[in-house]
Amino acid sequence: MLSFEDEVITEPSAPKLAAVPAPAVQTATPVAANQPSISGRVNASDKRMINGQTDVNQLVPFKYHWAWDKYLAGCANHWMPQEVSMSRDIAQWKDSTALTDDERLIVKRNLGFFTTADSLAANNIVLGTYRHITAPEARQYLLRQGFEEAIHTHAYQYIVESLGLDESEVFNAYQEVASIKDKDDFLIPFINTLTNPEFKTGTAEADQQLLRSLIVFACIMEGLFFYVGFVQILALGRQNKMQGAAEQYQYILRDESMHCNFGIDVINTIKLENPHLWTAEFRDEIKGLIQHGVELEYRYAEATMPRGVLGLNATMFKEYLRFIANRRCQQIGLDVLYQGATNPFPWMSEMIDLKKEKNFFETRVTEYQTGGALSWD
Ligand SMILES: [Fe+2]
Ligand SMILES: [Fe+2]
Repeated sequence: MLSFEDEVITEPSAPKLAAVPAPAVQTATPVAANQPSISGRVNASDKRMINGQTDVNQLVPFKYHWAWDKYLAGCANHWMPQEVSMSRDIAQWKDSTALTDDERLIVKRNLGFFTTADSLAANNIVLGTYRHITAPEARQYLLRQGFEEAIHTHAYQYIVESLGLDESEVFNAYQEVASIKDKDDFLIPFINTLTNPEFKTGTAEADQQLLRSLIVFACIMEGLFFYVGFVQILALGRQNKMQGAAEQYQYILRDESMHCNFGIDVINTIKLENPHLWTAEFRDEIKGLIQHGVELEYRYAEATMPRGVLGLNATMFKEYLRFIANRRCQQIGLDVLYQGATNPFPWMSEMIDLKKEKNFFETRVTEYQTGGALSWD
């Protein structure tokens, strides 16, 4: 039933349905993506990651066990933002001596990027990628991933609200702060490719477009553009500053690490099943995109850290981004781009490899609650 507010908002723009014939339903995806064209029962060996002809509504028999395993792992890692106490962060944010101006800038810029980045990620999955993937195991993970992106947006909103930040300033940063806008301007055309209702796979050109967008999303957005921000907030937490926010970022980092690895597994599966897409020209283009991504993320590091802060400086990030970019290249079967790059933040590996048994959850509430105030141990 519509609430009063819903009625008020929707009524003025509601079309006069009686006078206007209903538009034909557009099927943006190939028929195979939604309906089986091979009759009879599904054979696992017939499944394909893209352009498959098997019934996407039949999860089993499994072919891509790794996708199902990641779905289970994602569920096992479930968390909610309200489970993390923000009380110490709030006290520090109010205390003019607890954080420097440079540290406050890092927090604000971080939230400025991430509050909208995860909405872009969710749109990319729900309105784009999901339609083009014909392996139901992978779709199952994408559904989980889509919800995790909602949780991440929720987490950033929760931090913004807890600290009493200017919501309009933070949520508009992706349009108003150049170093953030530049990253999103780079990403959005690739997301738009997949979310365009007219876009269909099935030709070499379209399949390369899909693969290119998937690589940009997994290897550059989730796999590179998030990492300056993650290091900055986790470095704050390591110095006993903004520990609630840092704990949330740790959960998010763990999720994003799996998103990135899932995306890379999808990319490699598409390559394996469609080797004609992985041409020398295409590989060169991907290398150029990754290099561009490294430059944009380095500019973001410089803009968010005009001076050294927390024992970090922008130059360290240049090395770190090169190190990560090399790793992404190797993961999708490209030669490394930056010979000899090393990791200046080895402690980040521990953060990513976080396991539940590390007593990471000691600050979590003991039970889920659906309403009212949360109680803390
Ligand atoms: Fe996310
Ligand atoms: Fe993600």
